[in-house]
Amino acid sequence: SNKSVLGPLVGAVDQGTSSTRFLVFSSKTAELLSHHQVEIKQEFPREGWVEQDPKEILHSVYECIEKTCEKLGQLNIDISNIKAIGVSNQRETTVVWDKLTGEPLYNAVVWLDLRTQSTVESLGKRIPRSNNFVKSKTGLPLSTYFSAVKLRWLLDNVRKVRKAVEEKRALFGTIDSWLIWSLTGGVNGGVHNTDVTNASRTMLFNIHSLEWDKQLCEFFGIPMEILPNVRSSSEIYGLMKAGALEGVPISGCLGDQSAALVGQMCFQNGQAKNTYGTGCFLLCNTGRTCVFSDHGLLTTVAYKLGRDKPVYYALEGSVAIAGAVIRWLRDNLGIIKTSEEIEKLAKEVGTSYGCYFVPAFSGLYAPYWEPSARGIICGLTQFTNKCHIAFAALEAVCFQTREILDAMNRDCGIPLSHLQVDGGMTSNKILMQLQADILYIPVESEIRYSTWKKAVMKSMGWVTTQSPESGDPSIFCSVSLGFFIVSSMVMLIGARYISGIP
Ligand code: G3P
Repeated sequence: SNKSVLGPLVGAVDQGTSSTRFLVFSSKTAELLSHHQVEIKQEFPREGWVEQDPKEILHSVYECIEKTCEKLGQLNIDISNIKAIGVSNQRETTVVWDKLTGEPLYNAVVWLDLRTQSTVESLGKRIPRSNNFVKSKTGLPLSTYFSAVKLRWLLDNVRKVRKAVEEKRALFGTIDSWLIWSLTGGVNGGVHNTDVTNASRTMLFNIHSLEWDKQLCEFFGIPMEILPNVRSSSEIYGLMKAGALEGVPISGCLGDQSAALVGQMCFQNGQAKNTYGTGCFLLCNTGRTCVFSDHGLLTTVAYKLGRDKPVYYALEGSVAIAGAVIRWLRDNLGIIKTSEEIEKLAKEVGTSYGCYFVPAFSGLYAPYWEPSARGIICGLTQFTNKCHIAFAALEAVCFQTREILDAMNRDCGIPLSHLQVDGGMTSNKILMQLQADILYIPVESEIRYSTWKKAVMKSMGWVTTQSPESGDPSIFCSVSLGFFIVSSMVMLIGARYISGIP
């Protein structure tokens, strides 16, 4: 009976910098049926270095899948109704592994990592001012943020990596590639793929031709044979090889910020969303044209929902540290025990009392691109207490968003009239109200329910007739991938933050 009420089900892996989630949706009602989330470790072996264990990441995915399936069982929902899985992931984070043993050859070098600062400086000198081919081909400024320089570092500094490359055993991938290769069988026939959105964050990918770029690979000294095949964001890549969902096709892949754009249904030119995760990422759909920023924003691939479907682009304002500042207050200063406590502290005082917090832990991203910047807390007096610092940390997230919104408005010419938001931190009401006050525009943490429902039903209706039994489940999955984020927003119904300005 479940089958007819809920229709085919879709699973979405959401592998972020701070945690991994797996969520299962009904394709008929678009309802979130069950999910499971686990926090993942970050290692800071030296100042500025940020690493994660690729195997822990993979295990966290399996754990979330298994736990979610167990919960579905308890709800009497048959997991054989899960017909497709999508993967959404933290972008840029770089893994190199051995295709014969399946073992990572080094920890994952996380997007936030700063170890490549000097590599970036010396490479920068080799780019002619009159012909910045890196920027024109990739849409990105040369920065520690992107994969190419991390991969360069691994080749230069990790003997195991160099050796495996020489012996043609090495594979490179961002987290999506690592996961999809492992989930589809790893050493026993795993597929080595990435999608256009993730590829566009490596700095080796030509966003116009949608191919790995020979000149860029030569410039960064990257052997092209270790790169994954680039596919669209919505097609069948392979089947799950193990676990509760063995045999289910993996048929959607989007970098997490693209997934949020799709999830917020920003399909029209000029529609934008801001996601408050570990970092904060404001993406504005620019349709089928690559718009280049004059104000420090990135040009990036937004999505390509099918092999024969057109590619869409976005302008992106990236902020490195948002939720990460809360984790830092918890783990490094210990002034809160759980992330949620920050709201209580901030509420107690309702002001930072002249205290400012610049959490430039990983340099500053958009619009400055200044890797040598470091964090600072200033304006302290004897009156200052942890509540003021908590408040200043929340304000810092809002001020950073204000800067990228200003840049976006300047690049686009037409100012955004409101800001659609999502991500873990949006459940913090103080933060959202502060954000609205600092932007002077409404901040909406939900899409009006009726509009949302209509859109879901429309696309799902279309999708379910095509898939998965009767057609190509890939479309099915890419749509649902985005919806998991929308669905989590629906749980926040009622939360609306309008700035105090009439
Ligand atoms: O570019 C990095 C971004 O994809 C990380 O996302 O959700 O971990 O902040 P998140």
